[in-house]
Amino acid sequence: MVRVGIVGISGFSGKVLLDILLNHKDVRVTYVAAHSTTGRVDVIWPEFKNRTDLVCEKYTLDAATAQCDVVFLALPHTESMNIAGKLLAAGKKVIDLSADYRLKKISVYKKWYHADHKDVKNLPKAVYGLCEIYRSKIKKAKLLSNPGCYPTAALLALAPLVSIHGEKIASITIDAKSGVSGAGKKVAEAFMFPFVNENFKAYRVLSHQHTPEISQYLSSMSGKTWDVNFVPHLLPVDSGILETIYVQLNAKMTDASLHLLYKKFYKTETFVRVLDIGQQPELRNVVRTNFCDIGLAISENRKMVVITSAIDNLVKGASGQAVQNMNIMYGFNETEGLV
Ligand SMILES: NC(=O)c1ccc[n+]([C@@H]2O[C@H](COP(=O)([O-])OP(=O)(O)OC[C@H]3O[C@@H](n4cnc5c(N)ncnc54)[C@H](OP(=O)(O)O)[C@@H]3O)[C@@H](O)[C@H]2O)c1
Repeated sequence: MVRVGIVGISGFSGKVLLDILLNHKDVRVTYVAAHSTTGRVDVIWPEFKNRTDLVCEKYTLDAATAQCDVVFLALPHTESMNIAGKLLAAGKKVIDLSADYRLKKISVYKKWYHADHKDVKNLPKAVYGLCEIYRSKIKKAKLLSNPGCYPTAALLALAPLVSIHGEKIASITIDAKSGVSGAGKKVAEAFMFPFVNENFKAYRVLSHQHTPEISQYLSSMSGKTWDVNFVPHLLPVDSGILETIYVQLNAKMTDASLHLLYKKFYKTETFVRVLDIGQQPELRNVVRTNFCDIGLAISENRKMVVITSAIDNLVKGASGQAVQNMNIMYGFNETEGLV
């Protein structure tokens, strides 16, 4: 039985991790921690009453290394990089949900996250955990960098087209919408009920920190440099991301060939569902699941592809994908705990 720790249990992703891991037959959650929050987990999150007696402690390296084989870090960016290297040095596996190990260049990290990287030594060891694309590398990972929520929806939507027909693409524009839990548990005016309910707005237009992550991994799939246009919006719902992605082609494609490409690419994948011609993803079909639903359409002149992609930001976009990654790393059934 693998012993699992969750650091950041009082946050949204930590809570979803525990919910999934308590139903996982190959692991036992032995350690939960946070920063300022302490005490019984079923007091912090009453939905865990009668499900667990775990008690949240202030994080310490000694407790984590004594009690865990693998540690999930569900922490804000710039916090994980203070902790991950020491856990690795103690022989533990680390699955980090933050952005700290996703970007390969420290100059890019500094530009978008406004901080110097403090664990440059371990950065090259980190494996990007987009399960369906990097499975063989994930199997050997000791430091797993779990993808961001928006990048997960975008990269799964674009992977077949970019990796197989990258030379036919002139531009990519991603119009993304996320529920409010994407911002985490911190209290800020912009995320309060009266400011979100019955409202809809764009934010960080062409300047969101997930832009370089999407570009970096599109490049790794295709060997071509990408400059994507990325515009996020805040939806008045708790959870769920829906992205509408406009891909301008410089050569024609047909509806049927596009669908065939995607159906074949994801033929053996449980968690990516390519919808039939004419169908479109809906948040209600993916929220609280680890599925990514993808819809496809092509314009009459056959040069504009529109891909729609829907996930739950806290499940496939964070904790579900993190558990899927753990399953791959340990050779468990990849769907264990998730369906
Ligand atoms: N929310 C999403 O949809 C989503 C999706 C994908 C990825 N992510 C990423 O996942 C990470 C967690 O996100 P979240 O939304 O779950 O955040 P959150 O709700 O704000 O929770 C953050 C957690 O980190 C803990 N923490 C902060 N500093 C710490 C420290 N130095 N030591 C130990 N614990 C510390 C907090 O504990 P206290 O309560 O004690 O402060 C809290 O439990 C972030 O990096 C985020 O970008 C989030």
